[in-house]
Amino acid sequence: MFTDLFFIRFLAFLGVLGFSLFVFSITMDVPATTVATDESQKNDYSVWAAPPEDVIPRIKKLMEGLRSEFGGPQFEPHMTVVGLVSLTKDDALAKFKAACDGLKTYNCSVDRVATGTFFYQCVYLLIHPTTEVVEASAKSSSTFGFKSSTPYMPHISLLYGDLTDEEKKKAQEKAYSLDESIDQLSFPITRLQLWKTPASDNTLTSWEKIAEYNLSPN
Ligand SMILES: *[C@@H]1O[C@H](CO)[C@@H](O)[C@H](O)[C@H]1NC(C)=O
Repeated sequence: MFTDLFFIRFLAFLGVLGFSLFVFSITMDVPATTVATDESQKNDYSVWAAPPEDVIPRIKKLMEGLRSEFGGPQFEPHMTVVGLVSLTKDDALAKFKAACDGLKTYNCSVDRVATGTFFYQCVYLLIHPTTEVVEASAKSSSTFGFKSSTPYMPHISLLYGDLTDEEKKKAQEKAYSLDESIDQLSFPITRLQLWKTPASDNTLTSWEKIAEYNLSPN
């Protein structure tokens, strides 16, 4: 009788223990999978310098004029400060804040309308690579741990596309016919933006502004 009771209690104990372990394993499992799918997921991010609000319409007029003739995706006027970096969102936001805290408002001026050899460097406003423009990129890039394989060429793209040399020349001429004094444009950079820019997406539909910070005055 005594041994039977002991045995039943022992079985009940095993049952409770097993059930506890089962519940414990479920509760431990849920947060672990959430972390894996959400917070540790990496994306391509870029840091952009935005032209002032009153300058944007002038640049957009050029972009629209060129796009109406040569096609290509629509995007916001910007000068890339830090090129593509693959980071988690939290990490990108933290690094972006740190980069902005370490910078002050700086000036930039257009050199000329130029053309390049990549989809993303087709027709653009070449910006004078002054010390402050180059240093702003160098400081931010080091905060992001971004190392470029080519020297920084500050520019504001007007048109993305794969154009022939002849088309590029026509686009360049068209830019000057739309705004003949564009070479004299200069403006302060007072805010930076963090953008999600998946590199594989040439349609740019997945590009998304994540954050924006004002730089402290110089
Ligand atoms: C930027 O340009 C403005 C106007 O030309 C000038 O007053 C200002 O001192 C310049 N800022 C810097 C940081 O060079």
